[in-house]
Amino acid sequence: MSRVVVTGGSGKLGRAVVRELLDHGWDVVNLDRVPPREELCPFLRVDLTDYGQTVGALTAVDDRYDRVDAVAHLAAIPAPGLVPNTAVFGNNITSTHHVFSAARVAGIRNVVWASSETVLGLPFDTPPPYLPVDEEYPGRPESTYSLVKHLEEQLAVQLCRWDPELKMVGLRFSNVMEVADYARFPSFDADPKLRRWNLWSYIDARDGAQAVRKGLEWDGAGTEVFVIASPDSVMSTPSAELAAAEFPGVEVGGGLGTHESLMSTAKARRILGYTPAHTWRNHV
Ligand SMILES: NC(=O)c1ccc[n+]([C@@H]2O[C@H](COP(=O)([O-])OP(=O)(O)OC[C@H]3O[C@@H](n4cnc5c(N)ncnc54)[C@H](O)[C@@H]3O)[C@@H](O)[C@H]2O)c1
Repeated sequence: MSRVVVTGGSGKLGRAVVRELLDHGWDVVNLDRVPPREELCPFLRVDLTDYGQTVGALTAVDDRYDRVDAVAHLAAIPAPGLVPNTAVFGNNITSTHHVFSAARVAGIRNVVWASSETVLGLPFDTPPPYLPVDEEYPGRPESTYSLVKHLEEQLAVQLCRWDPELKMVGLRFSNVMEVADYARFPSFDADPKLRRWNLWSYIDARDGAQAVRKGLEWDGAGTEVFVIASPDSVMSTPSAELAAAEFPGVEVGGGLGTHESLMSTAKARRILGYTPAHTWRNHV
C-alpha cells in the first residue's frame, strides 16, 4: 500500500481528500497544525513553517511510519483577507517551500498541491482574455494570496527542471463547497454580480478530492497545472447569457452547455481522467 501525507487534512478540502484516498486503498497520514473533527486516519500535529518538523514528518516518525511515497499538500491560509497580507505570504510560501524541499530531501517524487482559481485573474476587474478560462494564458494574480499560488507554480517548474523525475501537479481549485453549502446557492440567482468574481464557478469537495487522487495516480513527470471546477455554474441563468451581460466583448468558445462552467476542466479530463460526479442541483 502506498503512503501519502495530506497536509491540511483537517481542513474543508482535506477532509474530503483523506476520505477519498482511504476509500481507494491509500495509507493516509494527516499533517496539520490543528486536529481533525473526525480522526479517519493517523493525525500528526505539524507546523509546516518549521522546516525541521516538515522534514521529519515527510521522512519517518517513531511508532508511526518509516517512509512516505507521496504528498498531497493542501495546508494554507485558504483565501485573501483572512489575516494581513504578509501573514498570508509568510505562512503559505514558507509552508510550501518547506513541503516541496522536504519532499526532495525524502526522495518523494509524487507531489500534488492545491493551487487556486485566483491565478486565473479573480476577481476579473480586468476581464478574462476569453471564456471559458483555462490553463493556456499566463497567471494573473491580483492579491497576495494569489501571488503566492502563482509563485508556487513557478517554484514547481524550477524544481522539476532540477529533477526531471519529479512529478508536481498543481490543481487550480475553484471555490470549495460541501453539501451543506448548497442551500444558499439559489440565492445567488437574484444578482449575477454576487458571484461574477469567480465566473459563477465552484468545486464540490468530493470532486476536488477525486482530482487530488487522480493527480497522485497519474503516471507523469514534470510540472502540470489543471483547473479543477464542478461541471456547472452556481446559477440558473445560462452561462452564455451571464458572459454576454457581465463580460461584453469577451470571446466565448463554441459548444458551451446551458449551465456549463466558465472554468474549463478539459485539460484535467483529458490528462488526469478527472470525471466530476456531483452538482449542487441534486441537493436543493
Ligand atoms: N476553500 C476554497 O474555496 C479554496 C479554493 C481554491 C484553493 N484552495 C486551496 O485549497 C487548500 C485547502 O483549502 P481549505 O478550504 O480546505 O482550507 P482550510 O482552512 O479549511 O484548511 C487548511 C488547513 O491547513 C492548515 N494549515 C494552514 N497553515 C498551516 C501550517 N503552517 N502548518 C500546518 N497546517 C497548516 C489549517 O490548520 C487547516 O486545517 C488551500 O491550499 C487553499 O488555498 C481553497
